[in-house]
Amino acid sequence: MLKVCKIALLSLLCVFECQAHAESPKVAIASAHPLATAAGFEVLAKGGNVYDAAVAVSAALAVVEPFASGLGGGAYWLLHREKDNFDTLIDGREKAPLAAHKAMFLDKDGQVIDKLSLDGALASAIPGMPAGLVHLSEKYGQLSLAENLAPAIRYAQTGFAIGERYLKLLKFRADTLKQFPETAQLFLPAGQLPQPFSILRQPDLANTLTQIAKSGRNGFYKGQVADQLLEGVKNRGGIWTQEDLDAYEVVERKPVTGYYKDIKITSSAPSSSGGIVLIEALNILEGYDLAALTDLTRKHLIVEAMRRAYHDRSLYLGDADFINIPVERLLNDDYAAGLRSSIRFDKALPSQQLSGQLELHSEGINTTHFSIIDEDGNRVAATLSINFPFGSGVVPAGTGVVLNDEMDDFDSLPGALNGYGLIGGVANAIAPGKRMLSSMAPTFLETKDQVAVLGTPGGSKIISMVLLAALDFSIGHTPDSWVNVPRYHHQFMPDVIEYEANALSEADIKDLKSLGHQLKPVRYPYGDMQAVLLNKTTKTLSAASDKRGEGQAVVGQ
Ligand code: GLY
Repeated sequence: MLKVCKIALLSLLCVFECQAHAESPKVAIASAHPLATAAGFEVLAKGGNVYDAAVAVSAALAVVEPFASGLGGGAYWLLHREKDNFDTLIDGREKAPLAAHKAMFLDKDGQVIDKLSLDGALASAIPGMPAGLVHLSEKYGQLSLAENLAPAIRYAQTGFAIGERYLKLLKFRADTLKQFPETAQLFLPAGQLPQPFSILRQPDLANTLTQIAKSGRNGFYKGQVADQLLEGVKNRGGIWTQEDLDAYEVVERKPVTGYYKDIKITSSAPSSSGGIVLIEALNILEGYDLAALTDLTRKHLIVEAMRRAYHDRSLYLGDADFINIPVERLLNDDYAAGLRSSIRFDKALPSQQLSGQLELHSEGINTTHFSIIDEDGNRVAATLSINFPFGSGVVPAGTGVVLNDEMDDFDSLPGALNGYGLIGGVANAIAPGKRMLSSMAPTFLETKDQVAVLGTPGGSKIISMVLLAALDFSIGHTPDSWVNVPRYHHQFMPDVIEYEANALSEADIKDLKSLGHQLKPVRYPYGDMQAVLLNKTTKTLSAASDKRGEGQAVVGQ
């Protein structure tokens, strides 16, 4: 605890060392690591805007949370620009290599080969983070890319003290990382877990970031770094080619929007399921006066809404560049009313009765998130990921880049478990150049007076966490409350409510069981929500980092 405070103090010193521009607006930043929050303020102090800060925070997280996100992964950046009321989603999600095919993780009997889509370079899709950083900086920032990457390069060169979260996740993935000598050398010195709070230096990663700072996307997707990536991927069983790297482009998409009472929700569009599932669940709940109900009935209805929205995720959602998604229907109020009419107050609906055996694919529990807003309302919500902690475990020699294992977010067995024929499987089946379905849900909530920016890591649980936070916002609570709401989750399949120890009382558990729900406590608290809030009337900012993590929320200049 003391050491975590030390990390926070170091980063605060950095905030105060940097001279703020006299005319720059106040800004709130909440991120999963104090050094990432500090990186944002460092570029703001040089005259950067919130988009520059977003580049700096993203790059810093890539260095100080190599288990969560990074240059070898992908991200969604949700942006709002106040002066022209412009919203956009930069989709920097990874893409399947061009040699990928739908049976690539199956054995000759058509069964999924254990861990092949999780460990090793076949699990790695083509990274979108470097292209996203360049795009965000060049199109929306005011500073140069080199200025925005400078704090991350410094952190990688001089090192930082690893925290408890880092060590916990390293321990969790140590057996995988040991299979790859280049990775073990970096993260497991002498084959051992490092001492708590020892310094991690990443000179190769500093060099890769420097190449990007000098040459933009060519610093990663071409030349020496690209050659090293391709060599490292080939050596570890992967199938990337230079053509894959050349072909990678981020896409700007129109975010999905909806209303819950007087709250406008703006969130991620497919290739992430986050926004659609969130808004669909809120549309279902809008038909109830939740405040007037008993606590038990409220929780039951929230779970039933989650069940139905996640069910549609399994059926309809995938990469919008490859499949037609009935977005309008899924977000339609009448459609929600139809789903609501199937909800009984006195009884849970077994998921099997919604649709046979469709499975929700389990997703990485890791990932990271940050939220930024300035007092004018310009803002960024960004969720970034390499999927499982330390991704695929592969670090191509000389690059310092931890490669993702996002190929696991595809459905490797399209249609096979699908009671509705092929629909569910095909939507998120593997195809060359396709983005795998995500649950990342960087989100804005806006009323006449207030704008909230929020999001969290947590795989498939991301959406239910943001849903609970949005409901907490709707009853007038503050960021500190949203990020710390006790969590429960239902994702249609498996048909069970997962819950944190403090989320349900003994009486809740007994009563929910009596309605027919199955329940399972999670072993650890989950998520690491980062949220900021602007009161538009008073122009006051506030910010909060989830107590479950080691993040830092700061309002400053
Ligand atoms: N890999 C986690 C997600 O994309 O939701």
